[in-house]
Amino acid sequence: MAKPPVDPSQGASSSPSSSKSSPETPAPATVKEATSSTTTSANVRSKRRVVVLYNCDFDVAVPTALDLIDDRSAVKRAANQVRDAVEDYGYEAIIEGVFGHDLARCLDRLHELSPDLIFNLTESLNQDSRNEIVVPAILDMLGIPFTGTGSLGLGLCLHKPKAKDMLRARGVPTPASCVLERPKDAAGVDLPYPLFVKLAHEDASVGIRHDNVVHNKRSLVRRVKDLIEEFQQAVLIERYIEGREVNVTLLGNAKVQALPFHEIDFSKLPPTSPRIVSYAAKWDESSPEYQGTMPVPVKDISPMIKAAIERAAIGAFRALELRDYGRVDFRVAEDGTPYVIDVNPNCDISPDAGVARAAAAAGMKYPQLIGRICDIALERYRHAHSKARAA
Ligand SMILES: Nc1ncnc2c1ncn2[C@@H]1O[C@H](COP(=O)(O)OP(=O)(O)O)[C@@H](O)[C@H]1O
Ligand SMILES: [Mg+2]
Repeated sequence: MAKPPVDPSQGASSSPSSSKSSPETPAPATVKEATSSTTTSANVRSKRRVVVLYNCDFDVAVPTALDLIDDRSAVKRAANQVRDAVEDYGYEAIIEGVFGHDLARCLDRLHELSPDLIFNLTESLNQDSRNEIVVPAILDMLGIPFTGTGSLGLGLCLHKPKAKDMLRARGVPTPASCVLERPKDAAGVDLPYPLFVKLAHEDASVGIRHDNVVHNKRSLVRRVKDLIEEFQQAVLIERYIEGREVNVTLLGNAKVQALPFHEIDFSKLPPTSPRIVSYAAKWDESSPEYQGTMPVPVKDISPMIKAAIERAAIGAFRALELRDYGRVDFRVAEDGTPYVIDVNPNCDISPDAGVARAAAAAGMKYPQLIGRICDIALERYRHAHSKARAA
């Protein structure tokens, strides 16, 4: 079993400060303080060491289900981009892949590398996204600092019905809904149409097609049956919210900052397509849906609605135990209510995805964004450590 690396608080608290400092973001460290528990090489290291850990279980996947492979194998590309950005920021970066069955080897390697921080990009293990919660749980147990949300938050967000329960309990608006385990239960749904059908435990628009928007019982029953049979999991039925779809990127922990909002521009969608981000819209660059769902900066929004969106986004971030960074997606109803439709911990942080877009709109270049996420995570550990010491 790997031993934990150096106490994260040592590195963070020993950092000299610089103009990049903020309450959430200490400056990049230059010298790592010696601790009794670390290897000699760690003690003389001149830069912080970040291991960018990603799941390589889809690197060599044979695309049997072509529609599911593209997004998952893209994690390696994102890992390389994050590694380069960490280096540009001024830290040492090492990329490591983990498949799942090789976890013991991976932990030994982490012990050998003794990183100050793991940049956790693992989205699955052994080709099963339910294993997304495994790496954070193990790193927590070993006391190895890592970026992003822990197992509890990841697990909650992968369970959309439970995530909605938490949002409601905290007074964060989310569309009225019910959960169906069996196709035959669809006939008993008592919610006003139009409705939206989605898988209870998926993300990345998996299972989302035009006919997920349903206007009557017949089409509801048909789509519920198809989804449950194809994916062998429960479905969530929500009220369909017509209106602007707004994405909010958040950074921080004790203080959470919302970056400039973006929204989906549906104006170029074929008139027959419902205004949703379907699987094709998200992943098939050649489809009219992809072209017709481009994210654009939010303009022309009333200060009141903007404030309500920001409040709900931060409420969702806290309710679902997100950490360091995340994205909350909304549909804004005609009466101005911002309904949370999706909460995305450890969301895509590649340079062409929403977080980087929002950061750029706030004047942050990609290496600065990635470095900032590292520093936010390190600061979180430093804060937790000093609180524990004070207790
Ligand atoms: N209640 C809803 N009302 C209107 N559109 C919705 C609703 N829920 C989801 N959508 C549409 O479906 C897309 C994918 O749904 P989402 O819940 O974000 O799933 P995923 O986790 O797969 O991203 C959203 O981007 C949005 O366009
Ligand atoms: Mg979504």
